[in-house]
Amino acid sequence: MSEDRYATVDRYLEDLFAPADPALAGALERSNEAGLPAISVSSAHGRLLHVLALACHATRILEIGTLGGYSTIWLARAVPRGGRLLTLEREAAYAQVARRNLADAGVADRVEVRVGDARDTLAQLQRDGAGPFDLVFIDADKPPYAEYLAAVLHLSAPGTLIVADNVVRDGRVAQDAVDDEAVAGVQRFNAAVAAEPRVAAAIIQQVGVKGYDGMAFAVVR
Ligand code: SAH
Ligand code: DHB
Ligand code: MG
Repeated sequence: MSEDRYATVDRYLEDLFAPADPALAGALERSNEAGLPAISVSSAHGRLLHVLALACHATRILEIGTLGGYSTIWLARAVPRGGRLLTLEREAAYAQVARRNLADAGVADRVEVRVGDARDTLAQLQRDGAGPFDLVFIDADKPPYAEYLAAVLHLSAPGTLIVADNVVRDGRVAQDAVDDEAVAGVQRFNAAVAAEPRVAAAIIQQVGVKGYDGMAFAVVR
């Protein structure tokens, strides 16, 4: 089946780029042991985030949805000394796993994991005059994705790169009537980002070990 082929290529890419990465492997292992869902980005997509962070010389990164910190490690490794990554997580127990993983990966000095509902934290960040961030990775719950985009635009400046995970959802985003709130949320996000005059955006389909999904990329004008 094609799904197998895609997974095989992901493993090939992993061998090619990172034959052994104890910090990332350990992060997944500990996340699994702690009972976290296996919904982190794949290593190929983690690598993509890393390359994008380097491409936009990101020194201030915001991530919405930490889980066990797997994507956080990829992003934090692109942040130079003195840079900062703030990652938002609703579940305190997940944040604890992430902090341990980030410490083991040697990036804890650059990263803050902030616990709470991201909608509240984003509103607080705006009140605090936080930002602008150079790169934002949206990867939390899907129903409020469009709200996250609106909030993130207040924490951005020209050149800020906004990346959003899971915007294709097995192709279900292209169906007219969906009764899945996650898919509906992503549809609202995709329509909002496409129509948003403050950004230039593209959405790319992706396959691999995590199945069939996609990412949105939007750069603030
Ligand atoms: N970025 C991670 C995966 C994140 S999974 C990686 O690739 O490694 C999505 C995470 O978002 C989960 O940990 C979930 O608890 C968190 N989350 C869901 N809703 C949230 C909300 N409203 N505010 C903050 N975090 C939320
Ligand atoms: C889910 C969330 C994600 O961020 C992801 O990458 C895959 C699945 C989910 O909630 O099902
Ligand atoms: Mg995701």
